[in-house]
Amino acid sequence: MIRLNSEDLDIMKIGIFDSGIGGLSVLHQAMITLPEADYIFYADVDNVPYGEKTRDEVRGLVDHAVGFLVEKGCQAIVLACNTATSAAISYLRDKYQLTIIGIEPAVKPAVEHTHNCGKRVMVVSTPVTAKGEKLKNLIEKYDVNHVVDVVALPKLVRYAQNDDFDSQDVLDYLKHEFRSYNLNEYSALVLGCTHFNYFKDSFAKLFPDDIEMVDGNTGVSNNLKNTVVKKGIFTEADNGKRGTVEYYYSDRKMESAAEMEHIRKLHERLERMRQI
Ligand code: DGL
Repeated sequence: MIRLNSEDLDIMKIGIFDSGIGGLSVLHQAMITLPEADYIFYADVDNVPYGEKTRDEVRGLVDHAVGFLVEKGCQAIVLACNTATSAAISYLRDKYQLTIIGIEPAVKPAVEHTHNCGKRVMVVSTPVTAKGEKLKNLIEKYDVNHVVDVVALPKLVRYAQNDDFDSQDVLDYLKHEFRSYNLNEYSALVLGCTHFNYFKDSFAKLFPDDIEMVDGNTGVSNNLKNTVVKKGIFTEADNGKRGTVEYYYSDRKMESAAEMEHIRKLHERLERMRQI
């Protein structure tokens, strides 16, 4: 069991982890829900995409990143990656004595949205998440009317990492992956990979106008806030504070003007996608 250094305990420092830029969508929402925290954002860009690796490989990589964030003094860590949560959260909770919050596909609210309207729910995710026990169990629990379909979109993470969010190539790829589904049958789309938040405008072109796109970002951010309050990580001294963010690409801190400008543009896009 790995414990925290006691001198770190008076700063509310939160680690947000993903294999890449998808986790920025969680950070983006967390900064709105819990602006008082100091965040360390870690994107494991040297090893993205995780969704095409074995579960053991993913576990090893997430273990390294979480160890790094613990060293930096984080008191709570958000796995802003459905794939990492699926493959590694139980292992991490056994190993580290700190709060670890995972993101999971928002199946429950999507099924509730579709309740009794005769329409279907589509969950899109990486292949690791799509094949994992966690998603299977979630669907078994909430999909009593058998309206949920799961579609893996393996290439979408690579498009995102290349900043290609709304090109004709992306649209053609999505059309190809959805070719055997009648998209008019769906009233909810679960974004089961944090990278997919960047593509909401492309998804919107393919699904009916009233499609409800559901991600886990608000849920996980509310969970983070409630947890830090409950565990006393959020203290009186944090009230009214405006926190900071440090960005890491794998173990390297991002500091150059060009890197920070790229991050700013990604936040800008995420803010636009949040309005869809
Ligand atoms: N963003 C991650 C998720 O939410 C996965 C991306 C990857 O395949 O690396 O599942």
